Amino acid sequence: MKKVFIETYGCQMNVYDTEIVKSVLGRSGYQLTDQEAEADIVLLNTCSVRDNANRKVYSRIHQIRKGRKGKVQIGVLGCMATNFRKQLLENPKLPIDFIAGPDSYKRLPQLLDDLNGNGKEARNFDVTLSEFETYSDVYPAQGGGVNAWIAVMRGCDNFCTFCVVPYTRGRERSRSPENVADEVKRLAQQGYRQVTLLGQNVNSYRYEGRDFADLLEEVSEVPEIARIRFTSPHPKDFPRRLLRVIAENPKVCKQIHLPLQAGNDRVLEMMNRTYTRKEYLDLVDEIRALCPAMVLSTDIIVGFPTETAAEFEDTVRIMEAVEYDSAFIFKYSERPHTIAQRKFPDDVPEEVKTERIVHLNEIQKRHSYQKNLAHIGQVHEILLEEENTKKSADEFQGRNDGNKIVIIPRGSYRKGQFLNVKITDATPHVLRGEVTEVLEK
Ligand code: SAH
Ligand code: SF4
Ligand code: F3S
Repeated sequence: MKKVFIETYGCQMNVYDTEIVKSVLGRSGYQLTDQEAEADIVLLNTCSVRDNANRKVYSRIHQIRKGRKGKVQIGVLGCMATNFRKQLLENPKLPIDFIAGPDSYKRLPQLLDDLNGNGKEARNFDVTLSEFETYSDVYPAQGGGVNAWIAVMRGCDNFCTFCVVPYTRGRERSRSPENVADEVKRLAQQGYRQVTLLGQNVNSYRYEGRDFADLLEEVSEVPEIARIRFTSPHPKDFPRRLLRVIAENPKVCKQIHLPLQAGNDRVLEMMNRTYTRKEYLDLVDEIRALCPAMVLSTDIIVGFPTETAAEFEDTVRIMEAVEYDSAFIFKYSERPHTIAQRKFPDDVPEEVKTERIVHLNEIQKRHSYQKNLAHIGQVHEILLEEENTKKSADEFQGRNDGNKIVIIPRGSYRKGQFLNVKITDATPHVLRGEVTEVLEK
């Protein structure tokens, strides 16, 4: 039996896909291992959203090959396989054996058989993107835990000009609500208490007339699942009914990741985000009017081509106006094949990008800290997720409804339990507290 080791880079969609790959290979007689050193086949499930993700993978390939003196087959899966197929297949110095894109995982056993059987020198590949593949007949091999991720749609049709995802993952397609609900029920039987529904833009979820709000309601019918999260909605077409379902359905967490990208209208237009700063801010106002406690997070890109200092200040002003609970801030990274790469030279100097990212990270740290301090004295409902925090075996870690980490003394609690916790302390990143009540959920 051949042993396979898989390493995952990039977003949660890739983490989910790795479980699909494990499931496909498992049922074809491969044995999975978590020891790279004993594997016959090493798979890297890659990301190419920014350049540093790419570089990490290249250096990892060389490192694996060096450590193993040729006795291992290396395959590149995921987003680099589709977006960098030429470089991967045609670079004679890159010691890989095959590549497979995100829609080809059901054909992996065949690809590996071909490789093993014929001893060909040439590299094997399958990077065809599909309009239909949703892996609705493959249940991923989730490893057991409290939260399970579920891809409810794949691909993206938005073509934000900076982004590779529409090229690496192809066209948008949704799984049926029944199929998603079946997976959720199976997960519930395995003891999961929370599911996070995944899609590049869940607002575009459509299946025979039903939309994402319908899907959330369907999933919330599964009794054992107590919490539902999702990521990400796009600010441009946020359905108002979805907003009401989030605000009103007790199982849907009061937390929205709302990627801003930039605060200036000219830059937003160049990015093809299809909303203006006013529309974005109006949406935030509407969300807060409906649910003042809604936890908001965002993604921002600094140094998009031609972004001026004054235009960057518009992003600063939106951050100051919204006061996000958390934000992921990135330097613009030019990606091959994207519209921005073809049309707009990457002309903001690296030092300027660095200054801008440092500035926004400082603002965010201040806001995160203020928001967390304001929770001191409140009682939050916590779902326990991790025994032992990174720092101590005497602590237990959970998350509140807004997805913030809450740390409590270890006690004799169990993973998957719900507790009421009085918040007693805060840093910009975590809350601490003491248990006031164990909840029956
Ligand atoms: N579909 C998600 C985004 C997925 S990529 C959404 O629209 O919400 C995650 C984040 O990476 C993006 O929100 C963006 O902020 C960042 N990103 C994508 N392409 C990038 C690039 N070329 N340079 C820098 N950051 C990028
Ligand atoms: Fe990329 Fe835009 Fe699609 Fe998000 S919505 S994956 S940023 S193209
Ligand atoms: Fe995800 Fe990276 Fe692909 S962010 S969709 S793994 S390019």
